[in-house]
Amino acid sequence: MANGVLVLGATSTIARALSARWARDGVPLHLVGRDTPELERIAQDLRIRYGSDVSVLGCDIAAGDFPQATVTAMGQHAPLRGIVWAFGTMVAAAGAADAQSLRAGAWVNFGAAPPLIEALLPLVDRQGFIAFLSSVAGDRGRQSNYVYGAAKAALSVYGLGLRHRLRGAGPSVTVLKLGVVDTRMSWGMGVPGGAADPEAVAAEVQRAIGAGKAVAYVPRRWALVMAVIRHLPEPLFNLLRI
Ligand SMILES: NC(=O)c1ccc[n+]([C@@H]2O[C@H](COP(=O)([O-])OP(=O)(O)OC[C@H]3O[C@@H](n4cnc5c(N)ncnc54)[C@H](OP(=O)(O)O)[C@@H]3O)[C@@H](O)[C@H]2O)c1
Repeated sequence: MANGVLVLGATSTIARALSARWARDGVPLHLVGRDTPELERIAQDLRIRYGSDVSVLGCDIAAGDFPQATVTAMGQHAPLRGIVWAFGTMVAAAGAADAQSLRAGAWVNFGAAPPLIEALLPLVDRQGFIAFLSSVAGDRGRQSNYVYGAAKAALSVYGLGLRHRLRGAGPSVTVLKLGVVDTRMSWGMGVPGGAADPEAVAAEVQRAIGAGKAVAYVPRRWALVMAVIRHLPEPLFNLLRI
């Protein structure tokens, strides 16, 4: 089934909401993740609800051969309409995390992306898209989550570099800088104004991709919040417990 969207990290709450939107629009989907039984459940739900064309592919991004195995499996579905990178994991503040979880956090949030995306690139339609679910956490290092933030900053720069390289000659690349969204990842995180609804976030993400944006803050108010945080002088920044 050509012309589908490849969803990497398809068990993510936000990715599920995005997949449902594409499924409703009749777009074929290829759901990728490490939890194959859960992917099968999501796929079956989409088939029943929307009559969708959905395939499932188990992929452990910690395994050494993951890019080639995924690329080979996806080759039969080329050309792809697009790819969404939704893999991600919250990492405890550096002082509280052991070396293994720091390494895993850096890998899942960024390290695994370049080898997989570069290998999949030839399978994506020239008119298609690649979208990265990144985070406002990458905009300025903060004591509470700078390991996660550093990896997301790297993911954002990678996405924008890829966009620069492919301009005019390949798929459009969009970096989504998400604020706090109401998913298991943000569970227990207090945020003024509350965590955003994943369905509303998915709608905005889909719009930003469709418009071919380079970067989109979702929800939009986070653009203003982060502009303030980025420009705060250090003495003021140091007063914040964030
Ligand atoms: N929620 C927020 O507030 C927020 C804010 C900014 C950015 N984001 C980003 O948006 C994306 C989706 O987030 P979400 O909130 O929907 O998160 P989520 O529901 O926790 O989903 C995270 C995804 O990453 C996968 N994953 C996590 N650790 C993994 C590992 N070690 N190996 C392989 N896969 C792993 C999960 O697979 P399993 O289901 O198998 O665990 C799941 O598919 C992430 O990239 C996240 O960083 C989220």
